[in-house]
Amino acid sequence: MKYITTPIYYLNGEPHLGHYYATTIADVLARYYRKYHDGAFFLTGTDEHGQKVADKAASQNLLPQEFTDTMSQMWQKTWQDLGISYDYFIRTTNPKHQELAQYVIERFRDSDDVYLKEYEALYCVGAESFVTKSELREGGLCPDHDEKPQIIQEKNYFFRLSKYKSQIRDLIINDIIKIVPESRKNETLELLNNPDIDDFSVTRQQVSWGVPVPFDDTQTLYVWIDALFNYMSGPLAKKNIDITHLTPKQIIESIVDIWPPNIQIIGKDIMKFHTVFWPAFLLALGIPEDKLPKTIVVTGFFMSDGRKMSKSLGNVINPQEIIQEFNTYTDNLGNDILRYIILREMKIGNDGDLTLDKIEHIYHIELVNKFGNTFSRVMGMAKKYQIEFDLNQEAISYKSQFEKYHIAMQDNDIYSALHILLDICSHIAQEIQEIQPWELYKQGNMTQLQIHIREWIVSLKEIAKCIEPIMPRISDKMQQVLAGESEHIFPQKPLS
Ligand code: ME8
Ligand code: MG
Repeated sequence: MKYITTPIYYLNGEPHLGHYYATTIADVLARYYRKYHDGAFFLTGTDEHGQKVADKAASQNLLPQEFTDTMSQMWQKTWQDLGISYDYFIRTTNPKHQELAQYVIERFRDSDDVYLKEYEALYCVGAESFVTKSELREGGLCPDHDEKPQIIQEKNYFFRLSKYKSQIRDLIINDIIKIVPESRKNETLELLNNPDIDDFSVTRQQVSWGVPVPFDDTQTLYVWIDALFNYMSGPLAKKNIDITHLTPKQIIESIVDIWPPNIQIIGKDIMKFHTVFWPAFLLALGIPEDKLPKTIVVTGFFMSDGRKMSKSLGNVINPQEIIQEFNTYTDNLGNDILRYIILREMKIGNDGDLTLDKIEHIYHIELVNKFGNTFSRVMGMAKKYQIEFDLNQEAISYKSQFEKYHIAMQDNDIYSALHILLDICSHIAQEIQEIQPWELYKQGNMTQLQIHIREWIVSLKEIAKCIEPIMPRISDKMQQVLAGESEHIFPQKPLS
């Protein structure tokens, strides 16, 4: 069983291509492990507290709870409409979640992992994060959010991160917590050497929209300590577990069929929270090293005009619009088409810059001309030359490539897995050109003709099977073409 998570998203806007990307990666991996291994538990959700969300609610003259109820529903509906196969949707306003968040801060007080301190610092509401002067852009702006950070002067509870830094460094060096790609692992190790990464405030005095600190009514929890524990409260809420009299070890024991997280998908903007703060919180609770998150996959950004695509900046591509556009002329294959394009375009970890032109181009060149044509051609010839075949026969020619597909998927490298399948398809198309089955037919060489066409068919069947976690509907379409129920995966002439 693989426990797979996405970040939980802030509700200050609608899902854009960046969120779609992270959620789609998690969905593909969950579908893969359900199909080829012993299953998956896939968690996603919404991050509902904090100043950013409270400000957005106020700007619409709504109470935060009203606003987040509506917005969270909209996010859930979006993922459902897109066929995202999550097993549970966690909201940080879920009482089960808040209970855990309060439990955690109480534990930290009892174990002396937090202490009160007065301080002054810069805070960017867009990032919901403290920033240091050295991180600021020209004009003193937050690098990702174009906002001038606030100066915060408060008396808060500080978490003793300093106590755990060297243990975390060892865990990361030894891949007990594996951070991929390697460059992000190194970046985290550098961060751990940076004196700026030190004890930090985990409560706030002036943010009322947050989980109350149970032993101090002047404070609410900092949105990040609240948010990170969604990865624990999700399984607890799903299984409806009462944690009141449990120790932290008993809590994870109660969700042992799910815990620990195997694959956590996050963007590079929230790396330090997941690779440093999150393990530190778990260690402070006394969670043993072999029950910490296993792999943290750090993705790059979709850019737009050289800047990160973001709700705060408003420079976003809406995935639904692209999907709609494709749906009008492809029998509702838009979502699968977009899944293909984002995953084949961006190797996990790299940044990507997709334009609408590029999207159209990849659709025609690869999906229609490579996959679509090869399926139609091979099955067209099988029909024309009346070749009998058995779809249950094993494909031999591309065995090692299909094995490489599985290795790539298990390495969370969907990009390479997809390119392997595309290459097999290109290779079959090339073989058709070289072998010229029509010549074999003219010569009456039915034996050779049969051998080739049968082998292409079973190879295409394997492609259809392997592509299912990535494009479930298109995989169905491929299988319909193989079964002779349909001639084409994609319509022959797009209307646009
Ligand atoms: O940070 N390109 O939520 P968030 C690629 N609530 N991915 C992008 C992206 C882009 N342009 N923009 C966003 C938060 N993402 C916190 C997380 S987790 C305990 C709390 C993706 O709504 C990327 O995965 O700002 C990023 O990390 C995530 O959305 C952040 O979404
Ligand atoms: Mg963000």
